[in-house]
Amino acid sequence: MPALIVGNWKMNGLGEDIAEIAAMAGSGARGVWIAPPFTLIDRAVIVSAGAVKIGGQDCHANAKGAHTGCVSAAMLADLGAGFVIVGHSERRRDNGETDADVRAKAQAGQAAGLEVILCIGETRAQRDAGQTNAVLTSQLSGSLPDDAEALIIAYEPVWAIGTGLIPTLDDVAAAHAHIRQHLTAHFGPAGHGVRILYGGSVTPANAGELLGVADVGGVLVGGASLTAASLLAIAATAP
Ligand code: 13P
Repeated sequence: MPALIVGNWKMNGLGEDIAEIAAMAGSGARGVWIAPPFTLIDRAVIVSAGAVKIGGQDCHANAKGAHTGCVSAAMLADLGAGFVIVGHSERRRDNGETDADVRAKAQAGQAAGLEVILCIGETRAQRDAGQTNAVLTSQLSGSLPDDAEALIIAYEPVWAIGTGLIPTLDDVAAAHAHIRQHLTAHFGPAGHGVRILYGGSVTPANAGELLGVADVGGVLVGGASLTAASLLAIAATAP
């Protein structure tokens, strides 16, 4: 599988920044996906003209209803989005999302026809206490949807997000191997087909070595995804 390079713009981006997505789309790079804020999805879908897959950073678990300020997976699909990120650690932290909430959102995303990127990862304290594998197991157990189709896992150590710190390549390999083991135990053979991304302080300088680690099927990039120059430099490191 060619590597997948996914940009998560988080709460960044105004109309003028659409030019970055247009530049990514015009570059001819393959396997580049961008999750802009909800406000830019419509315009991003138009300028990307199918060359960059556009997605949401979150969705509600319900298709519609009395949930002021929320956006459903069906609404994302209606805009032409092709994927949704669920369970990002910033949403777990800022919005108190639980594994059960994340599972419901993943199910909703798949039901709406979106590919789902489900994020998991340990905190610094959990890693220091030797609990990384136990945390990943617990998050996967609580949040995996019923279906392995259209599912992608993103391993994002919380302490590596926005800090400039990344795990050793051996630690990335160990975490991905642990996740793979859980996926195949849970889904059977279909678990082999689930792509696993690494996320957390990915830059053009470290992307090549991270993408070279066993079972790293791509990267989920925050800060370094905001400009076409930076994200395309990351994409260019893909083996
Ligand atoms: P940074 O690449 O800015 O560390 O963010 C990673 C992330 O959270 C992507 O979802």
